[in-house]
Amino acid sequence: MKNKTLAKDAWGSRLGLILAMAGNAVGLGNFLRFPVQAVQNGGGAFIIPYLVCFLILGIPLLFIEWSSGRFGGKFGNHSTPFILDTMGKGRIWKYIGVFGIFTNIAVVAYYTYIESWSLSYVLHSLMGTFEGMSQSQVAQFFDNYISISSSTTGIPFEPVVIYILVLILNVYILSKGLGGIEKAAKIGMPLLILFGIILAVKSLTLGESGRSVQFPDASAWDGLNFLWTPQYDSLLNPKVWLAAAGQIFFTLSVGMGTIQCYASYLKANDDVALNSVSAGFMNEFVEVVLGSAIVIPIAAGFLGLDWVLENAGFGMAFQTMPFLFQQWGTVMATFSGVFWFGLLFFAGITSSLAMGTPWMGFMKDEFGWGMKRGAWSFGLLALIMGLPTVLFYQQGFFDEYDYWGGTVSLVIFALLESILFSWVFGINKGWQEIMEGADIHVPIIFKFIIKYVTPLMLLLVFIGALVTPQGNDWTTNIQNLLSGNTWQLDSSSIIRKLSHFELTNQLAVSNTPLKREIIEDKIFYSNFARIQLVTLFLFIALLVYYANSRRTKLFTK
Ligand code: ALA
Repeated sequence: MKNKTLAKDAWGSRLGLILAMAGNAVGLGNFLRFPVQAVQNGGGAFIIPYLVCFLILGIPLLFIEWSSGRFGGKFGNHSTPFILDTMGKGRIWKYIGVFGIFTNIAVVAYYTYIESWSLSYVLHSLMGTFEGMSQSQVAQFFDNYISISSSTTGIPFEPVVIYILVLILNVYILSKGLGGIEKAAKIGMPLLILFGIILAVKSLTLGESGRSVQFPDASAWDGLNFLWTPQYDSLLNPKVWLAAAGQIFFTLSVGMGTIQCYASYLKANDDVALNSVSAGFMNEFVEVVLGSAIVIPIAAGFLGLDWVLENAGFGMAFQTMPFLFQQWGTVMATFSGVFWFGLLFFAGITSSLAMGTPWMGFMKDEFGWGMKRGAWSFGLLALIMGLPTVLFYQQGFFDEYDYWGGTVSLVIFALLESILFSWVFGINKGWQEIMEGADIHVPIIFKFIIKYVTPLMLLLVFIGALVTPQGNDWTTNIQNLLSGNTWQLDSSSIIRKLSHFELTNQLAVSNTPLKREIIEDKIFYSNFARIQLVTLFLFIALLVYYANSRRTKLFTK
Protein backbone atom coordinates (compact mmCIF):
# COMPACT_ATOMS: atom_id res chain seq x y z
CA MET A 1 0.00 0.00 0.00
CA LYS A 2 2.81 2.35 0.98
CA ASN A 3 4.59 1.75 -2.31
CA LYS A 4 1.43 2.50 -4.24
CA THR A 5 1.13 5.87 -2.52
CA LEU A 6 4.77 6.63 -3.14
CA ALA A 7 4.55 5.61 -6.77
CA LYS A 8 1.66 8.00 -7.23
CA ASP A 9 3.64 10.84 -5.69
CA ALA A 10 6.50 10.83 -8.15
CA TRP A 11 7.14 12.41 -11.53
CA GLY A 12 6.29 10.14 -14.44
CA SER A 13 9.31 11.01 -16.58
CA ARG A 14 12.23 13.36 -16.77
CA LEU A 15 10.62 15.21 -19.68
CA GLY A 16 7.43 15.58 -17.68
CA LEU A 17 9.38 16.95 -14.73
CA ILE A 18 11.31 19.49 -16.82
CA LEU A 19 8.19 20.62 -18.64
CA ALA A 20 6.31 20.95 -15.35
CA MET A 21 9.18 22.92 -13.80
CA ALA A 22 9.53 25.08 -16.91
CA GLY A 23 5.75 25.50 -16.94
CA ASN A 24 5.96 26.64 -13.33
CA ALA A 25 8.49 29.28 -14.33
CA VAL A 26 7.13 30.31 -17.74
CA GLY A 27 4.12 32.39 -16.96
CA LEU A 28 2.38 35.68 -17.36
CA GLY A 29 5.58 37.26 -16.07
CA ASN A 30 7.40 36.26 -19.26
CA PHE A 31 4.96 37.91 -21.63
CA LEU A 32 3.39 40.71 -19.63
CA ARG A 33 5.79 41.70 -16.87
CA PHE A 34 9.15 41.31 -18.64
CA PRO A 35 8.48 43.61 -21.63
CA VAL A 36 7.00 46.28 -19.41
CA GLN A 37 9.89 46.10 -16.93
CA ALA A 38 12.36 46.27 -19.79
CA VAL A 39 10.69 49.32 -21.33
CA GLN A 40 10.24 51.13 -18.03
CA ASN A 41 13.89 50.59 -17.14
CA GLY A 42 15.43 51.87 -20.31
CA GLY A 43 15.24 48.89 -22.71
CA GLY A 44 18.83 47.92 -23.47
CA ALA A 45 19.78 49.44 -20.11
CA PHE A 46 17.81 46.70 -18.39
CA ILE A 47 19.20 43.70 -20.23
CA ILE A 48 22.70 43.53 -18.71
CA PRO A 49 21.62 43.79 -15.05
CA TYR A 50 18.87 41.31 -15.89
CA LEU A 51 21.30 38.73 -17.30
CA VAL A 52 23.77 39.25 -14.47
CA CYS A 53 20.95 38.73 -11.95
CA PHE A 54 20.03 35.54 -13.77
CA LEU A 55 23.58 34.25 -13.27
CA ILE A 56 24.24 35.35 -9.70
CA LEU A 57 20.75 35.14 -8.24
CA GLY A 58 18.60 33.03 -10.52
CA ILE A 59 20.81 30.01 -11.18
CA PRO A 60 22.15 29.79 -7.59
CA LEU A 61 18.63 29.99 -6.19
CA LEU A 62 17.51 27.30 -8.61
CA PHE A 63 20.32 25.07 -7.32
CA ILE A 64 19.44 25.88 -3.72
CA GLU A 65 15.71 25.27 -4.14
CA TRP A 66 15.94 22.14 -6.25
CA SER A 67 18.45 20.51 -3.93
CA SER A 68 16.66 21.63 -0.74
CA GLY A 69 13.43 20.21 -2.12
CA ARG A 70 14.96 16.87 -3.01
CA PHE A 71 16.65 16.76 0.39
CA GLY A 72 13.38 17.44 2.22
CA GLY A 73 11.60 14.85 0.10
CA LYS A 74 13.95 12.14 1.40
CA PHE A 75 12.39 12.72 4.81
CA GLY A 76 8.85 12.79 3.48
CA ASN A 77 8.51 16.59 3.54
CA HIS A 78 6.90 18.28 0.56
CA SER A 79 6.48 21.89 1.59
CA THR A 80 8.90 24.45 2.89
CA PRO A 81 7.95 24.61 6.59
CA PHE A 82 9.27 21.13 7.25
CA ILE A 83 11.80 21.07 4.41
CA LEU A 84 13.51 24.03 6.06
CA ASP A 85 13.01 22.44 9.46
CA THR A 86 14.90 19.35 8.32
CA MET A 87 17.77 21.49 7.07
CA GLY A 88 18.19 23.84 9.99
CA LYS A 89 17.39 22.50 13.39
CA GLY A 90 15.91 25.44 15.20
CA ARG A 91 12.34 26.35 15.89
CA ILE A 92 12.30 29.40 13.66
CA TRP A 93 12.92 27.76 10.27
CA LYS A 94 9.60 26.03 10.02
CA TYR A 95 7.89 29.39 10.53
CA ILE A 96 10.07 31.00 7.89
CA GLY A 97 8.95 28.13 5.70
CA VAL A 98 5.39 29.47 6.06
CA PHE A 99 6.33 31.95 3.34
CA GLY A 100 6.62 29.04 0.89
CA ILE A 101 2.91 28.26 1.24
CA PHE A 102 1.64 31.75 1.96
CA THR A 103 3.19 33.40 -1.10
CA ASN A 104 1.59 30.88 -3.42
CA ILE A 105 -1.90 31.40 -2.12
CA ALA A 106 -1.49 35.17 -2.12
CA VAL A 107 -0.15 35.17 -5.68
CA VAL A 108 -2.55 32.60 -7.07
CA ALA A 109 -5.46 34.74 -5.89
CA TYR A 110 -4.70 37.54 -8.36
CA TYR A 111 -2.73 35.51 -10.86
CA THR A 112 -5.71 33.34 -11.74
CA TYR A 113 -7.67 36.54 -12.27
CA ILE A 114 -5.34 37.49 -15.13
CA GLU A 115 -5.55 33.92 -16.34
CA SER A 116 -9.32 34.38 -16.46
CA TRP A 117 -8.96 37.57 -18.53
CA SER A 118 -6.87 35.58 -21.00
CA LEU A 119 -9.45 32.83 -21.25
CA SER A 120 -12.22 35.35 -21.66
CA TYR A 121 -10.27 37.17 -24.39
CA VAL A 122 -9.74 33.87 -26.25
CA LEU A 123 -13.52 33.48 -26.28
CA HIS A 124 -14.10 37.08 -27.34
CA SER A 125 -11.53 36.72 -30.14
CA LEU A 126 -13.39 33.65 -31.38
CA MET A 127 -16.74 35.42 -31.14
CA GLY A 128 -15.39 38.37 -33.12
CA THR A 129 -16.18 40.83 -30.31
CA PHE A 130 -13.31 43.11 -31.24
CA GLU A 131 -14.14 43.26 -34.95
CA GLY A 132 -14.36 46.83 -36.18
CA MET A 133 -13.55 48.34 -32.78
CA SER A 134 -11.33 51.39 -32.61
CA GLN A 135 -8.41 51.40 -30.23
CA SER A 136 -10.26 53.42 -27.65
CA GLN A 137 -13.22 51.05 -27.90
CA VAL A 138 -10.94 48.07 -27.24
CA ALA A 139 -9.43 49.90 -24.27
CA GLN A 140 -12.92 50.78 -23.04
CA PHE A 141 -13.98 47.16 -23.35
CA PHE A 142 -11.22 46.21 -20.92
CA ASP A 143 -12.06 49.04 -18.52
CA ASN A 144 -15.69 47.95 -18.50
CA TYR A 145 -14.68 44.35 -18.00
CA ILE A 146 -12.82 45.05 -14.78
CA SER A 147 -15.10 47.71 -13.43
CA ILE A 148 -17.86 47.09 -10.93
CA SER A 149 -19.59 50.32 -11.84
CA SER A 150 -20.25 49.11 -15.38
CA SER A 151 -22.40 46.32 -14.01
CA THR A 152 -26.00 47.04 -13.03
CA THR A 153 -25.94 44.54 -10.16
CA GLY A 154 -22.73 45.89 -8.69
CA ILE A 155 -21.12 42.51 -9.40
CA PRO A 156 -19.18 42.17 -12.62
CA PHE A 157 -20.88 39.00 -13.80
CA GLU A 158 -18.58 37.80 -16.57
CA PRO A 159 -15.28 38.34 -14.71
CA VAL A 160 -16.60 36.59 -11.61
CA VAL A 161 -17.99 33.60 -13.51
CA ILE A 162 -14.89 33.10 -15.63
CA TYR A 163 -12.64 33.62 -12.62
CA ILE A 164 -14.47 30.88 -10.73
CA LEU A 165 -14.36 28.60 -13.79
CA VAL A 166 -10.61 29.07 -14.04
CA LEU A 167 -10.22 28.26 -10.34
CA ILE A 168 -12.31 25.12 -10.78
CA LEU A 169 -10.19 24.06 -13.74
CA ASN A 170 -7.04 24.52 -11.64
CA VAL A 171 -8.57 22.54 -8.79
CA TYR A 172 -9.70 19.78 -11.12
CA ILE A 173 -6.21 19.32 -12.62
CA LEU A 174 -4.59 19.54 -9.19
CA SER A 175 -6.92 16.86 -7.85
CA LYS A 176 -5.36 14.47 -10.38
CA GLY A 177 -2.01 14.88 -8.63
CA LEU A 178 1.40 15.18 -10.26
CA GLY A 179 0.11 13.24 -13.28
CA GLY A 180 -2.45 15.97 -13.98
CA ILE A 181 0.19 18.68 -13.72
CA GLU A 182 2.51 16.77 -16.04
CA LYS A 183 -0.24 16.32 -18.58
CA ALA A 184 -1.16 20.01 -18.46
CA ALA A 185 2.51 20.94 -18.98
CA LYS A 186 2.92 18.48 -21.85
CA ILE A 187 -0.03 20.05 -23.64
CA GLY A 188 0.39 23.66 -22.55
CA MET A 189 4.12 24.19 -23.00
CA PRO A 190 4.50 23.05 -26.64
CA LEU A 191 1.35 24.94 -27.65
CA LEU A 192 2.52 28.04 -25.89
CA ILE A 193 5.91 27.92 -27.60
CA LEU A 194 4.27 27.28 -30.97
CA PHE A 195 1.88 30.21 -30.56
CA GLY A 196 4.75 32.37 -29.35
CA ILE A 197 6.92 31.55 -32.35
CA ILE A 198 4.09 32.24 -34.82
CA LEU A 199 3.39 35.62 -33.24
CA ALA A 200 7.07 36.50 -32.95
CA VAL A 201 7.63 35.73 -36.64
CA LYS A 202 4.60 37.78 -37.58
CA SER A 203 5.82 40.62 -35.39
CA LEU A 204 9.40 40.53 -36.66
CA THR A 205 8.26 40.65 -40.26
CA LEU A 206 6.00 43.60 -39.57
CA GLY A 207 8.77 46.14 -40.08
CA GLU A 208 7.32 49.48 -41.08
CA SER A 209 4.19 48.09 -42.69
CA GLY A 210 2.01 49.15 -39.77
CA ARG A 211 2.60 52.88 -40.35
CA SER A 212 -0.47 55.06 -40.51
CA VAL A 213 -1.19 58.74 -41.02
CA GLN A 214 -1.49 59.10 -37.30
CA PHE A 215 1.83 57.32 -36.62
CA PRO A 216 3.99 57.97 -39.69
CA ASP A 217 7.23 57.00 -37.91
CA ALA A 218 6.11 53.66 -36.56
CA SER A 219 8.44 50.72 -37.00
CA ALA A 220 8.58 47.36 -35.27
CA TRP A 221 12.37 47.50 -35.54
CA ASP A 222 12.50 50.51 -33.25
CA GLY A 223 10.93 48.41 -30.52
CA LEU A 224 13.54 45.69 -30.95
CA ASN A 225 16.45 48.09 -31.18
CA PHE A 226 15.29 49.82 -28.05
CA LEU A 227 15.20 46.53 -26.15
CA TRP A 228 18.41 45.14 -27.51
CA THR A 229 20.91 47.98 -27.69
CA PRO A 230 22.87 47.61 -24.44
CA GLN A 231 23.50 50.75 -22.42
CA TYR A 232 26.32 50.32 -19.99
CA ASP A 233 25.59 53.38 -17.83
CA SER A 234 22.65 51.53 -16.26
CA LEU A 235 25.14 49.31 -14.48
CA LEU A 236 25.48 52.05 -11.87
CA ASN A 237 21.79 52.56 -11.34
CA PRO A 238 20.41 50.61 -8.33
CA LYS A 239 16.83 51.17 -9.49
CA VAL A 240 17.48 49.15 -12.63
CA TRP A 241 19.21 46.44 -10.59
CA LEU A 242 16.25 46.21 -8.22
CA ALA A 243 13.85 45.90 -11.12
CA ALA A 244 16.04 43.29 -12.81
CA ALA A 245 16.34 41.23 -9.62
CA GLY A 246 12.58 41.48 -9.04
CA GLN A 247 11.91 40.23 -12.54
CA ILE A 248 14.31 37.30 -12.13
CA PHE A 249 12.49 36.24 -8.97
CA PHE A 250 9.08 36.49 -10.46
CA THR A 251 9.89 34.81 -13.73
CA LEU A 252 11.87 31.89 -12.34
CA SER A 253 9.39 31.42 -9.48
CA VAL A 254 12.26 31.43 -7.00
CA GLY A 255 11.55 32.49 -3.44
CA MET A 256 8.06 31.04 -3.74
CA GLY A 257 8.26 27.49 -2.46
CA THR A 258 6.91 25.83 -5.60
CA ILE A 259 10.30 24.61 -6.83
CA GLN A 260 11.10 23.00 -3.47
CA CYS A 261 7.72 21.31 -3.55
CA TYR A 262 8.12 19.96 -7.11
CA ALA A 263 11.68 18.85 -6.37
CA SER A 264 10.62 17.04 -3.21
CA TYR A 265 8.98 14.44 -5.46
CA LEU A 266 12.33 13.57 -7.06
CA LYS A 267 14.08 10.34 -6.19
CA ALA A 268 17.10 10.59 -3.89
CA ASN A 269 19.57 10.16 -6.71
CA ASP A 270 17.81 12.10 -9.45
CA ASP A 271 19.82 14.87 -11.02
CA VAL A 272 19.09 18.39 -9.85
CA ALA A 273 21.99 20.25 -11.48
CA LEU A 274 21.15 19.69 -15.14
CA ASN A 275 17.39 19.61 -14.65
CA SER A 276 17.31 22.94 -12.85
CA VAL A 277 19.50 24.64 -15.42
CA SER A 278 17.45 23.16 -18.29
CA ALA A 279 14.17 24.42 -16.86
CA GLY A 280 15.77 27.79 -16.07
CA PHE A 281 17.15 28.24 -19.56
CA MET A 282 13.89 27.17 -21.14
CA ASN A 283 12.22 29.93 -19.15
CA GLU A 284 14.83 32.45 -20.27
CA PHE A 285 14.39 31.49 -23.91
CA VAL A 286 10.66 32.04 -23.66
CA GLU A 287 11.11 35.30 -21.76
CA VAL A 288 14.02 36.94 -23.51
CA VAL A 289 13.44 35.69 -27.05
CA LEU A 290 9.67 35.30 -27.31
CA GLY A 291 8.63 37.68 -24.54
CA SER A 292 10.49 40.57 -26.10
CA ALA A 293 9.43 39.79 -29.67
CA ILE A 294 5.67 40.19 -29.40
CA VAL A 295 3.99 43.04 -27.50
CA ILE A 296 6.66 45.74 -27.81
CA PRO A 297 7.59 45.35 -31.51
CA ILE A 298 3.94 44.97 -32.59
CA ALA A 299 2.88 48.03 -30.59
CA ALA A 300 5.91 49.97 -31.84
CA GLY A 301 5.20 48.82 -35.39
CA PHE A 302 1.69 50.26 -35.41
CA LEU A 303 1.85 53.03 -32.87
CA GLY A 304 5.50 54.04 -32.77
CA LEU A 305 8.12 53.69 -30.06
CA ASP A 306 7.19 56.98 -28.40
CA TRP A 307 3.68 55.76 -27.86
CA VAL A 308 5.02 52.53 -26.36
CA LEU A 309 7.34 54.40 -24.01
CA GLU A 310 4.49 56.53 -22.78
CA ASN A 311 1.91 53.78 -22.49
CA ALA A 312 3.91 50.72 -21.49
CA GLY A 313 1.98 48.87 -18.83
CA PHE A 314 0.32 45.69 -17.95
CA GLY A 315 -2.90 46.64 -19.71
CA MET A 316 -1.21 46.91 -23.13
CA ALA A 317 -1.73 43.22 -23.74
CA PHE A 318 -5.46 43.54 -23.22
CA GLN A 319 -6.19 47.14 -24.08
CA THR A 320 -4.20 47.33 -27.30
CA MET A 321 -3.40 43.95 -28.82
CA PRO A 322 -6.94 43.02 -29.95
CA PHE A 323 -7.09 46.31 -31.86
CA LEU A 324 -3.65 45.84 -33.42
CA PHE A 325 -4.51 42.31 -34.53
CA GLN A 326 -7.49 43.74 -36.44
CA GLN A 327 -5.01 45.51 -38.70
CA TRP A 328 -4.07 42.11 -40.12
CA GLY A 329 -7.59 41.41 -41.38
CA THR A 330 -10.47 39.56 -39.72
CA VAL A 331 -9.24 35.98 -40.13
CA MET A 332 -5.71 36.68 -39.00
CA ALA A 333 -7.09 38.82 -36.15
CA THR A 334 -9.12 35.87 -34.88
CA PHE A 335 -6.15 33.52 -35.09
CA SER A 336 -3.76 36.02 -33.54
CA GLY A 337 -6.21 36.73 -30.73
CA VAL A 338 -6.58 33.03 -29.98
CA PHE A 339 -2.82 32.47 -30.20
CA TRP A 340 -1.92 35.44 -28.01
CA PHE A 341 -4.52 35.03 -25.30
CA GLY A 342 -4.27 31.24 -25.53
CA LEU A 343 -0.53 31.54 -25.00
CA LEU A 344 -1.13 33.73 -21.95
CA PHE A 345 -3.66 31.27 -20.61
CA PHE A 346 -1.34 28.26 -20.95
CA ALA A 347 1.56 30.24 -19.52
CA GLY A 348 -0.64 31.22 -16.58
CA ILE A 349 -2.21 27.89 -15.78
CA THR A 350 1.02 25.89 -15.75
CA SER A 351 2.28 28.37 -13.13
CA SER A 352 -0.87 28.58 -11.04
CA LEU A 353 -1.03 24.80 -10.83
CA ALA A 354 2.42 24.85 -9.26
CA MET A 355 1.18 27.34 -6.69
CA GLY A 356 -1.38 24.83 -5.46
CA THR A 357 1.10 22.10 -4.70
CA PRO A 358 2.86 23.41 -1.54
CA TRP A 359 -0.46 23.68 0.30
CA MET A 360 -1.57 20.25 -0.90
CA GLY A 361 1.80 18.70 -0.04
CA PHE A 362 1.68 20.20 3.43
CA MET A 363 -1.87 19.07 4.18
CA LYS A 364 -1.07 15.59 2.94
CA ASP A 365 2.18 15.23 4.90
CA GLU A 366 0.78 16.61 8.12
CA PHE A 367 -2.89 15.77 8.15
CA GLY A 368 -3.18 12.96 5.61
CA TRP A 369 -5.43 14.94 3.25
CA GLY A 370 -5.87 13.29 -0.14
CA MET A 371 -5.46 15.01 -3.50
CA LYS A 372 -9.12 15.94 -3.87
CA ARG A 373 -9.48 17.42 -0.43
CA GLY A 374 -6.17 19.22 -0.78
CA ALA A 375 -7.08 20.64 -4.18
CA TRP A 376 -10.57 21.80 -3.22
CA SER A 377 -9.41 23.38 0.02
CA PHE A 378 -6.73 25.20 -1.96
CA GLY A 379 -9.39 26.39 -4.39
CA LEU A 380 -11.49 27.65 -1.50
CA LEU A 381 -8.58 29.57 0.01
CA ALA A 382 -7.74 31.04 -3.39
CA LEU A 383 -11.36 32.09 -3.81
CA ILE A 384 -11.58 33.74 -0.39
CA MET A 385 -8.34 35.59 -1.05
CA GLY A 386 -9.05 36.23 -4.72
CA LEU A 387 -12.66 37.34 -4.94
CA PRO A 388 -11.85 40.77 -3.51
CA THR A 389 -9.19 41.23 -6.21
CA VAL A 390 -11.92 40.70 -8.79
CA LEU A 391 -14.44 42.95 -7.08
CA PHE A 392 -12.05 45.68 -5.97
CA TYR A 393 -9.48 45.56 -8.72
CA GLN A 394 -9.74 49.25 -9.41
CA GLN A 395 -9.35 50.18 -5.77
CA GLY A 396 -5.86 48.69 -5.81
CA PHE A 397 -6.58 45.37 -4.09
CA PHE A 398 -4.78 43.47 -6.80
CA ASP A 399 -1.69 45.69 -6.66
CA GLU A 400 -1.45 45.30 -2.93
CA TYR A 401 -1.28 41.50 -3.22
CA ASP A 402 1.21 41.77 -6.05
CA TYR A 403 3.46 44.05 -4.06
CA TRP A 404 3.51 42.25 -0.71
CA GLY A 405 2.79 38.68 -1.85
CA GLY A 406 4.36 38.67 -5.31
CA THR A 407 7.38 40.89 -4.72
CA VAL A 408 8.47 41.63 -1.14
CA SER A 409 7.77 38.12 0.21
CA LEU A 410 9.82 36.48 -2.52
CA VAL A 411 12.90 38.52 -1.69
CA ILE A 412 12.59 37.99 2.07
CA PHE A 413 12.13 34.25 1.69
CA ALA A 414 14.95 33.87 -0.84
CA LEU A 415 17.31 35.82 1.41
CA LEU A 416 16.51 33.67 4.43
CA GLU A 417 16.67 30.36 2.58
CA SER A 418 20.00 31.26 1.00
CA ILE A 419 21.39 32.00 4.49
CA LEU A 420 19.97 28.72 5.74
CA PHE A 421 21.47 26.75 2.85
CA SER A 422 24.98 28.17 2.99
CA TRP A 423 25.45 29.15 6.58
CA VAL A 424 23.23 26.93 8.72
CA PHE A 425 22.89 23.73 6.73
CA GLY A 426 26.42 24.49 5.55
CA ILE A 427 27.74 25.14 2.07
CA ASN A 428 29.78 21.92 2.03
CA LYS A 429 26.73 19.80 2.71
CA GLY A 430 24.72 21.99 0.36
CA TRP A 431 27.23 21.63 -2.44
CA GLN A 432 27.25 17.86 -1.92
CA GLU A 433 23.46 17.90 -2.27
CA ILE A 434 23.70 19.81 -5.56
CA MET A 435 26.35 17.46 -6.93
CA GLU A 436 24.64 14.25 -5.82
CA GLY A 437 23.44 12.45 -8.96
CA ALA A 438 24.40 15.50 -11.07
CA ASP A 439 24.48 14.90 -14.82
CA ILE A 440 26.66 17.94 -15.42
CA HIS A 441 29.73 19.30 -13.78
CA VAL A 442 28.75 22.53 -12.03
CA PRO A 443 31.71 24.96 -12.04
CA ILE A 444 33.13 25.28 -8.53
CA ILE A 445 32.79 29.08 -8.74
CA PHE A 446 29.10 28.55 -8.01
CA LYS A 447 30.00 27.27 -4.56
CA PHE A 448 31.53 30.65 -3.84
CA ILE A 449 28.66 32.51 -5.48
CA ILE A 450 26.04 30.56 -3.51
CA LYS A 451 27.87 31.12 -0.24
CA TYR A 452 28.75 34.80 -0.54
CA VAL A 453 27.47 36.56 -3.62
CA THR A 454 23.86 35.42 -3.67
CA PRO A 455 23.04 36.17 0.00
CA LEU A 456 24.89 39.48 -0.18
CA MET A 457 23.14 40.49 -3.37
CA LEU A 458 19.79 39.49 -1.86
CA LEU A 459 20.55 41.55 1.21
CA LEU A 460 21.39 44.54 -0.95
CA VAL A 461 18.23 44.08 -2.99
CA PHE A 462 16.17 43.93 0.19
CA ILE A 463 17.82 46.94 1.82
CA GLY A 464 17.60 48.81 -1.47
CA ALA A 465 13.87 48.20 -1.61
CA LEU A 466 13.37 48.92 2.08
CA VAL A 467 14.97 52.35 2.08
CA THR A 468 14.88 53.41 -1.59
CA PRO A 469 16.03 57.07 -1.54
CA GLN A 470 13.96 59.89 -2.89
CA GLY A 471 13.89 60.00 -6.67
CA ASN A 472 15.84 56.73 -6.66
CA ASP A 473 18.89 58.95 -6.58
CA TRP A 474 21.38 57.03 -4.46
CA THR A 475 24.40 59.21 -5.17
CA THR A 476 22.83 62.47 -3.99
CA ASN A 477 21.21 60.84 -0.99
CA ILE A 478 24.42 59.15 0.12
CA GLN A 479 26.26 62.47 -0.25
CA ASN A 480 23.54 64.19 1.78
CA LEU A 481 23.78 61.57 4.47
CA LEU A 482 27.56 61.95 4.64
CA SER A 483 27.22 65.68 5.04
CA GLY A 484 24.94 65.19 8.03
CA ASN A 485 21.49 65.44 6.42
CA THR A 486 18.76 62.87 6.89
CA TRP A 487 18.01 60.12 4.39
CA GLN A 488 15.01 61.04 2.27
CA LEU A 489 12.88 58.02 1.50
CA ASP A 490 11.16 57.58 -1.84
CA SER A 491 7.45 56.85 -1.86
CA SER A 492 8.25 53.54 -3.57
CA SER A 493 10.35 52.31 -0.61
CA ILE A 494 8.88 49.51 1.49
CA ILE A 495 8.83 51.76 4.56
CA ARG A 496 6.88 54.49 2.79
CA LYS A 497 4.51 52.00 1.19
CA LEU A 498 3.78 50.56 4.57
CA SER A 499 2.50 53.91 5.79
CA HIS A 500 0.54 54.75 2.59
CA PHE A 501 2.79 57.77 2.28
CA GLU A 502 1.89 58.64 -1.29
CA LEU A 503 -1.85 58.23 -0.83
CA THR A 504 -1.83 60.20 2.41
CA ASN A 505 0.01 63.04 0.68
CA GLN A 506 -2.43 62.98 -2.22
CA LEU A 507 -5.26 63.11 0.29
CA ALA A 508 -3.77 66.16 1.94
CA VAL A 509 -3.72 68.14 -1.31
CA SER A 510 -6.90 66.87 -2.94
CA ASN A 511 -9.49 69.58 -2.98
CA THR A 512 -12.69 67.91 -4.14
CA PRO A 513 -14.84 65.48 -2.12
CA LEU A 514 -14.82 63.05 -5.04
CA LYS A 515 -11.04 62.91 -5.21
CA ARG A 516 -10.86 62.50 -1.45
CA GLU A 517 -13.35 59.68 -1.58
CA ILE A 518 -11.37 57.83 -4.25
CA ILE A 519 -8.16 58.09 -2.25
CA GLU A 520 -9.84 57.14 1.02
CA ASP A 521 -11.30 54.13 -0.76
CA LYS A 522 -7.86 53.12 -1.95
CA ILE A 523 -6.43 53.35 1.56
CA PHE A 524 -9.36 51.38 2.92
CA TYR A 525 -9.04 48.60 0.36
CA SER A 526 -5.31 48.34 0.64
CA ASN A 527 -5.67 47.93 4.41
CA PHE A 528 -8.35 45.34 3.76
CA ALA A 529 -5.93 43.48 1.45
CA ARG A 530 -3.19 43.65 4.06
CA ILE A 531 -5.48 42.24 6.73
CA GLN A 532 -6.32 39.35 4.41
CA LEU A 533 -2.62 38.70 3.79
CA VAL A 534 -1.64 38.84 7.45
CA THR A 535 -4.55 36.60 8.40
CA LEU A 536 -3.51 34.08 5.77
CA PHE A 537 0.07 34.07 7.03
CA LEU A 538 -1.02 33.61 10.63
CA PHE A 539 -3.46 30.88 9.67
CA ILE A 540 -0.71 28.87 7.94
CA ALA A 541 1.70 29.54 10.82
CA LEU A 542 -0.93 28.19 13.21
CA LEU A 543 -1.30 25.04 11.11
CA VAL A 544 2.47 24.62 11.18
CA TYR A 545 2.46 25.03 14.96
CA TYR A 546 -0.28 22.45 15.28
CA ALA A 547 1.44 20.06 12.87
CA ASN A 548 4.65 20.42 14.81
CA SER A 549 2.96 19.59 18.10
CA ARG A 550 1.48 16.50 16.49
CA ARG A 551 4.90 15.47 15.26
CA THR A 552 6.41 16.02 18.70
CA LYS A 553 3.69 13.95 20.34
CA LEU A 554 4.13 11.10 17.86
CA PHE A 555 7.87 11.23 18.37
CA THR A 556 7.71 11.11 22.17
CA LYS A 557 5.13 8.32 22.25
N1 ALA B 1 7.06 32.44 -12.81
C1 ALA B 1 5.72 32.75 -13.07
C2 ALA B 1 5.61 33.85 -14.06
O1 ALA B 1 6.56 34.24 -14.68
C3 ALA B 1 5.01 33.09 -11.79
O2 ALA B 1 4.56 34.34 -14.29
